[in-house]
Amino acid sequence: MNFDVIAPSILSADRLNLHRDLQTAIQGGAQMFHIDIMDGVFVPNLSFGPSFVQAIRKITSLPLDVHLMTINPENYLDELIADQADLINLHVESTNHIYRAIQKVQAAEIKAGIVLNPGTSISSVAPLLPLVDNVLVMSVNPGFGGQQFIYAMTQKIQKLAQLRKQNADYTYTIEVDGGINEQTAKLCKVAGAQIFVAGSYVFDHDIAQQIARLKEVLVI
Ligand code: DX5
Ligand code: ZN
Repeated sequence: MNFDVIAPSILSADRLNLHRDLQTAIQGGAQMFHIDIMDGVFVPNLSFGPSFVQAIRKITSLPLDVHLMTINPENYLDELIADQADLINLHVESTNHIYRAIQKVQAAEIKAGIVLNPGTSISSVAPLLPLVDNVLVMSVNPGFGGQQFIYAMTQKIQKLAQLRKQNADYTYTIEVDGGINEQTAKLCKVAGAQIFVAGSYVFDHDIAQQIARLKEVLVI
């Protein structure tokens, strides 16, 4: 697996001008959109509901990457499947039945990912690694945009890449989310990340220019 994808996180887009910001990102070369769904329980913040996926699907055919930060994520899967999410990422601590939730997503022919919080070890999810399509490494504590990158997470990325190399049945992509900028993106790329989520870096400045800068540093 050898590709890089820049996925702007719409959490940092201008809520009242979401359509405008997303169009600018599309024109600027965004390759995927990352949509953070938060319930104020699993993480201490509220953001979008699944209806945003449906709304965004109407304006773009780019892959939509859903990051579910809710308890009982099963409650939202039917809707997200119907809304044509392309990748659904589930926190392993958010349900008692992560395996079943992954199976449900994949049965609908949608890619399923697991999310590892900074404090979640790879060994704790070992039985899931042959099953999942994506592993999302949180490089900040989930819940908010604009936080500092946790540098130790590059080792987790490196380990995941190494494990995939050693196991022919591991086919997951590696995604990193939180504190991504030109410098941290480069470190994550070297470690083995392939999908780079960037929120405040992209939307707090000139959107198209920021995407171009990230692409340049990742040499895509
Ligand atoms: C945080 C979210 C991220 C967030 C990243 O819980 O999962 O997707 O938007 O924001 P930045 O890139 O600003 O750290
Ligand atoms: Zn996210």
